[in-house]
Amino acid sequence: MAEYVKLIYDGKTYELPLVTGSAGEKAIDITKLRQTTGLITLDPGFANTGSCSSAITFMDGEKGILRYRGIPVEQLAEHSTFRETTFLLINGKLPNREELDTASERLNQTSLVHEDMHIVFQNFPRNSHPMGILSSMVTALRSFYPELPVVQEEINITVMRLLSKLRTMAALSYRISVGHNIVYPRHDLSYCANFLNMMFNSPVKPYHIDLDIVKALNIFWILHADHEQNCSTSAVRVVGSGRVNLYAAVSAGIAALWGPLHGGANQAVIEMLSGIKESGKSLSQIVEKAKDRNDPYRLMGFGHRVYKTYDPRAKIMKKTCDKILGKLKISDPLLDLAKKLEEVALKDDYFIENNLYANIDFYSGIILRAIGIPTNMFPVMFAIGRLPGWIAQWKESMDDPAWRLSRPRQIYTGPVEARYIPIDER
Ligand code: ACO
Repeated sequence: MAEYVKLIYDGKTYELPLVTGSAGEKAIDITKLRQTTGLITLDPGFANTGSCSSAITFMDGEKGILRYRGIPVEQLAEHSTFRETTFLLINGKLPNREELDTASERLNQTSLVHEDMHIVFQNFPRNSHPMGILSSMVTALRSFYPELPVVQEEINITVMRLLSKLRTMAALSYRISVGHNIVYPRHDLSYCANFLNMMFNSPVKPYHIDLDIVKALNIFWILHADHEQNCSTSAVRVVGSGRVNLYAAVSAGIAALWGPLHGGANQAVIEMLSGIKESGKSLSQIVEKAKDRNDPYRLMGFGHRVYKTYDPRAKIMKKTCDKILGKLKISDPLLDLAKKLEEVALKDDYFIENNLYANIDFYSGIILRAIGIPTNMFPVMFAIGRLPGWIAQWKESMDDPAWRLSRPRQIYTGPVEARYIPIDER
């Protein structure tokens, strides 16, 4: 039976339909609100707003649950690979062996980046942030790979190109930024091993592919692969709603992810931990500073818009982190500091009352450091991981019959009407 929520306004009662998701969460459907009542809703930061219906990712922030297409992320991190999880997110089901092999073949076929693009990469100033380079170069892909006339063919090839080339381009921009030779992708290597080889192989010291590091990278990317309607995914959907090409929509996602409150947080965590170490301040002094409402300082890697308990991804990341550091016999003073800081923060009343727990970024940077990824590349690593989610969400939005051009409204607070004053009279 259809359920409704009653809204009483200006002496009239309106019935707004109640929508229930497959996991039981409920929402008030306000699609006809303005048309029938003249009212709009006001929700800065969209914390109470469902922007779409989606069958891709389920998360329960109170219980700390994250599932892709119904499968718990813990199971995927343990048993799956990033390539397989990518297929799952984009196609809605786990691939059989033949489908996975075909996907791998297509990824190999599209892994090279147009040679003329190398010149563009080389002309960015050396100290450019890799996220800026990546966002620009993803948009530039449209110029190098013009649109095909058949829509489905165009979508399929664009998806494969993005999945394969983003990884190649990320490694390429790193190699150019440090003045090293370009390492091309290889057909005989898996998705993650290929990336590591492109980043670190050297003509004087061949890169040894360590399967434990490959596994850790798979886990890192699986954990980042989708997170429902987060800031960058919403950017992809909003930009995509103007029916722009997928390259431009993904480029917008990369730009949104760059910020320290979102994908830049893993970089910010390492910078924060290094800053704490250098400052000589005690951890309780640091926590006091983060709690001070008059001080913009925040504990990076703590808190989340949706999780009000421990981020399930952070648990897996912490475990993987310990394993990798143990295996590589690395003793990282920043990891010790991170563990102590977490301990102090988790006992603090402010952090308890505000449900501020360590999020995925708190430990991910330490793994990336151990693998040898430079700090300014951390958000790029996040972007490669989030790409399948952006693509899956964009595809879903394109096929959604309820989808419309994104165009929120506002409550205007400026002067109602003002007169133009000629410049000499001002
Ligand atoms: N350190 C100190 N105080 C914090 C922190 C923090 N990390 N996070 C939230 N708070 C405070 C808020 O300022 C707020 O205080 P107020 O009531 O006095 O205004 C209170 O705790 C409650 O905050 P929330 O409403 O839970 O936070 P919000 O949803 O607005 O922001 C965000 C979430 C942006 C992630 C925030 O927690 C933050 O800035 N964290 C640090 C950056 C970070 O780690 N980002 C990565 C997020 S995960 C991801 O994108 C992969």
